[in-house]
Amino acid sequence: MTALVTATDLKRSYEVKQGWLRPPAQLQAVGGVSFALEAGKTLAVVGESGCGKSTLARLVTLIEKPSAGALMLDGVDAVNPPAGAVKTLRRTVQIVFQNPYGSLNPRKRVGAILEEPLIINTTLSKQERRAQALDMMAKVGLRPEQYGRYPHMFSGGQRQRIAIARALMLRPKLLVADEPVSALDMSVQAQVLNLLVDLQRELGLAYLFISHDLGVVRHIADDVMIMYLGIAVEHGPKERIFARPLHPYTQALLGATPGLGRNRQRIVPKGELPSPLDPPKGCVFSTRCPYVTDLCRTQRPLLRPLDGRLVACHYAERFLETQAA
Ligand SMILES: Nc1ncnc2c1ncn2[C@@H]1O[C@H](COP(=O)(O)OP(=O)(O)O)[C@@H](O)[C@H]1O
Ligand code: SF4
Ligand SMILES: [Mg+2]
Repeated sequence: MTALVTATDLKRSYEVKQGWLRPPAQLQAVGGVSFALEAGKTLAVVGESGCGKSTLARLVTLIEKPSAGALMLDGVDAVNPPAGAVKTLRRTVQIVFQNPYGSLNPRKRVGAILEEPLIINTTLSKQERRAQALDMMAKVGLRPEQYGRYPHMFSGGQRQRIAIARALMLRPKLLVADEPVSALDMSVQAQVLNLLVDLQRELGLAYLFISHDLGVVRHIADDVMIMYLGIAVEHGPKERIFARPLHPYTQALLGATPGLGRNRQRIVPKGELPSPLDPPKGCVFSTRCPYVTDLCRTQRPLLRPLDGRLVACHYAERFLETQAA
């Protein structure tokens, strides 16, 4: 089966100004990320703020072009699309952001918000558009009488339902959700996550689900990719990674997640995330890792297969032995 999304060594850097006297520097926000995502499946991308998650989301949703690497969406080259394929590509993938209020036009009613993509991209009649909007509202748990209301009349969770409904109006195959529940209360988070799971089943959607919180992705993910300073440090099936995290950064994230960190040796990363303008020479995690050695400081560990996942740590075998015991 060919994957719906195939990303190969995707990179994205930005030029950042450094004042009057110094030349601009290159900031590598995504430093070579690869993954495959099948139809109907969920890849969760997890890492703390500044790791490059949103940049990756913008690359996969075609908002920005990668500086290097390849991206195939539904069998089509999304970096250099063939003539005439751009419109179809844009319908294949949609995005939902963290802040639903910021992404919804406050002057438009829900109905108009949902019908806008149809006006732009289809030749449906007014009645047909209305019918589809009401149908989608039902799918995301909104009531028909809410069709004429404005975004400010809704709670945070309901607004995120509206944003999800709008993203699904053109029936995409892939939904990129960038921290979709991070701004919501815990109880509402669970409701929106359950909705996403139901919609995935009903519509066969694939999700690239971005979060800084491993607890949030625990139920929704099939695969998990842990990112640190723009690269994947561990990547594989959720069960493997949650049961036996092999990268110290994954261990630290799991240890810090309520309900998941029990019976685990607590690893606390030292200090702050380094500046992506001046990343560590060897292992990206070396400035904060409690197990760091001279080898780690000088040689970058490659992402390599071990115990049914990929991991980028020189000492992963050792962590496998201790955890298997
Ligand atoms: N347009 C941009 N110009 C310059 N730097 C950027 C830009 N977008 C993101 N960055 C930088 O890239 C890094 C990754 O950012 P981002 O992708 O937003 O991470 P995350 O979503 O994981 O918090 C950060 O250091 C951020 O400051
Ligand atoms: S390679 Fe070294 S510094 Fe990097 S995660 Fe492994 S033990 Fe820590
Ligand atoms: Mg982000």
